[in-house]
Amino acid sequence: METRPRDIIYLDNNATTRVAPEVFEAMVPFLTEFYGNPSSVYTFGAQVGRAIDAARERVAALLGCDPAEIVFTGCGTESDNAAINSAIRTSGRQHIVTTRVEHSAITRHCAALERSGHPVTWLDVDPGGLLDMSAVERAIGPTTAIVSAMWANNETGVLFPIDEIADICRSKGVLFHTDAVQALGKAPVDLARANVDLASFSGHKFHAPKGVGILFVRKGTRFASHILGGGQEKGRRGGTENTASIVGLGRAAELAMEGLADRRARVCRLRDKLEDAILASIPGTRVNGDRQRRLPNTSNISFAHIEAESLLLELDRHGICASSGSACTTGSLEPSHVLTAMGLDSPAARASIRFSLSGYTTDAEIDRTAETLPALVAKLRAASPRRSLKLSPNRPPSLQF
Ligand SMILES: Cc1ncc(COP(=O)(O)O)c(C=O)c1O
Repeated sequence: METRPRDIIYLDNNATTRVAPEVFEAMVPFLTEFYGNPSSVYTFGAQVGRAIDAARERVAALLGCDPAEIVFTGCGTESDNAAINSAIRTSGRQHIVTTRVEHSAITRHCAALERSGHPVTWLDVDPGGLLDMSAVERAIGPTTAIVSAMWANNETGVLFPIDEIADICRSKGVLFHTDAVQALGKAPVDLARANVDLASFSGHKFHAPKGVGILFVRKGTRFASHILGGGQEKGRRGGTENTASIVGLGRAAELAMEGLADRRARVCRLRDKLEDAILASIPGTRVNGDRQRRLPNTSNISFAHIEAESLLLELDRHGICASSGSACTTGSLEPSHVLTAMGLDSPAARASIRFSLSGYTTDAEIDRTAETLPALVAKLRAASPRRSLKLSPNRPPSLQF
């Protein structure tokens, strides 16, 4: 295994997060001593089953729901796919409403369903990345099986008004699913308040390990299982439970609840410090997405006349991890579907970088990133064929470049 550089600056927490030491500690006994099958009748198995029950209670406390409404899954993607498949099967209806800015766990699944004959309405967003509520209302018809809209966008951090969308769906008698993978631990998520029927979460976005997810299924919502096998998860998801990871998820849920408001304020201060420093010191920069209605940890910035991939490589040489919204599909770099849906043209979308912080991010890391960036951007612009363009910090660039 390669050694990890000690002084890495990790600003890609929307991609994944470090496993909290407390989470790792809670998991270890379930990888070593307590390896019984939770479904076994003898004590050695049953005590593992009790640990899963305790984790379910902790997750339910974080979400504001009943433990019986929690189904443990293998990842956020599985939860997203399962929610939509179940709605189609249980409602007997064909039409799906979703947005153009969802994660590929929704967009690719819905596109595949569309190809197999399911009508899909793809809701547009405005330049701030926000939805028009009257468009949501208009999109729902008598054949609509489900509306799926994300709680927080993974690329820009923009928050959709989940309560409002949920109320519209409830009033029209249509199921509502939210992909809340990026919201948990960063924004208040209270399922006791929001009329959400189904919701997806993923452990590795809030300091639990990779490969464990959550599907919330509100009591009274019909659910058709997507993995048939043993009777695990009350028959809602077959397969022997990922015990250690579920226990870790429970501990991560407890940690997420502790001091959420303080952590949000601290992370937000650091994010704003980085953003302000970049906007002030690097001409031709702009923040993408509504700056008020977004997660406190996320900043998506366009750097005019830069290829994001080149800047990411330069940052990597300095031990700084960030990411672009671009997805690498079959060898060609596609511009981000989120940014293009917000009206950025292809060069502007390709010039955008996402910085995403966590509770572990420090002032020193933000300072070093802010100090490092201007020279890297200047170097890349000097090498770019568009270098003749004059950019000043006081003259915001047109993003149609
Ligand atoms: C909004 C959103 N939904 C779903 C997922 C998929 O989660 P997982 O990696 O657990 O499958 C991600 C992961 O990046 C995400 O950001």
